[in-house]
Amino acid sequence: MTGKTNILLFGATGYIGGSVLNRLLQHPNADNFDITVPVRSPEKAKLLEQLGVKTEIASLSDHDKIESLASRAHVIFNVANSDDLPAIVALLKGVRKAYETTRQPPILIHTSGTGEIAELADGKYATETVYSDLNIDQLKSIPPTAFHRNVDLAVIGADEQGYARSYIIIPGVVEGIASGPVFEEGIAKRVSMQIPSLIKASLDRKRSGVIGPGKAIWPYVHVDDTADMYTVLLDAITANPQSAGHGWEGYYFAENGHISYYEIGKAIGQALVDLGFADNAEPTPFTDDELVNYWGSVFLGNFGGSTCRCRADRIRALGWKPKYSSADLLAILKPETELQWKIAQEKGEIDFSYERSLSVLFQNAIASS
Ligand SMILES: NC(=O)c1ccc[n+]([C@@H]2O[C@H](COP(=O)([O-])OP(=O)(O)OC[C@H]3O[C@@H](n4cnc5c(N)ncnc54)[C@H](OP(=O)(O)O)[C@@H]3O)[C@@H](O)[C@H]2O)c1
Repeated sequence: MTGKTNILLFGATGYIGGSVLNRLLQHPNADNFDITVPVRSPEKAKLLEQLGVKTEIASLSDHDKIESLASRAHVIFNVANSDDLPAIVALLKGVRKAYETTRQPPILIHTSGTGEIAELADGKYATETVYSDLNIDQLKSIPPTAFHRNVDLAVIGADEQGYARSYIIIPGVVEGIASGPVFEEGIAKRVSMQIPSLIKASLDRKRSGVIGPGKAIWPYVHVDDTADMYTVLLDAITANPQSAGHGWEGYYFAENGHISYYEIGKAIGQALVDLGFADNAEPTPFTDDELVNYWGSVFLGNFGGSTCRCRADRIRALGWKPKYSSADLLAILKPETELQWKIAQEKGEIDFSYERSLSVLFQNAIASS
């Protein structure tokens, strides 16, 4: 590859994608990156340009534009939506065009999620099944109907056909308050999905909540450690393409330990007590009415009682060293609770519109898988 590396990043205004953009902007090789970020908001596009990146106003449903942008990229990061199959199909059409022009397979680093390996446990147990990203037979045995799987299979299919080098980062629950220029400028979302919505629900009911007895466990990883994975992977691929598995050998779990929903509920409950919003730190089970109210349906609400376990063996072998333990993640829940309370004060309400938008996305993903 001669000249600058054309990087296309989807999801720059999001929690993980904004963190990845910060890493790329601060990368030692940043002068050799030509970064383009498709975004929906013209206001955010202007702010992003001030940080030195090119922007395109585009939604994931602008398929012609996605195809055209992808056809000019050497490296694509998809950190926007793990479940938008038509968008990925358009992107892959562009990737194929790039390959047909250059005979060099572009690098596609896609984001999935460990919901793909989750068991619906209603909070009643912690799974004993441990997925390792080095165990290809185990990864191949995941059913095609699993959450996120249809998109992952399309991504891997492009690698199998030889016109892309595909890598899939598959995080558990990503946590922590994101920081860095993209967030300080108000461009990207500072908080994650699952735990912030538990905090908001707990603030609303003035008592921490869990699904069932809260025994379900999930892998956890800090947002800064997650963002580091993308550049550790890019650096490894750039230094020696043979060093980093791709295609079926290109699943990269992101975890640094596992936590039960009871532990999370207890930490949120303690934060509520410490901040004077509740007088009892013990979480209580959400009722079906609450699940519908906060997450759109009992089924989607109960996803917070699902369980999965994995090991991020592959990225550790490439030198990834996560800094935040699961204990650090629990300690973050008090400042996060304070932040959510402050946001609610500013808005005049506890706003569940993000959860409602996700519930539509999840319903569509479940229907199409
Ligand atoms: N956060 C986690 O704990 C976690 C864990 C595992 C997997 N994941 C997956 O990782 C991905 C990113 O997660 P996140 O927490 O960073 O989400 P997020 O904060 O909601 O960010 C999503 C990003 O994608 C963009 N986007 C979404 N739909 C779009 C559309 N139709 N057209 C254009 N842009 C669109 C958003 O743009 P706007 O600013 O315009 O909305 C935003 O930049 C998601 O697919 C999620 O399922 C997340």
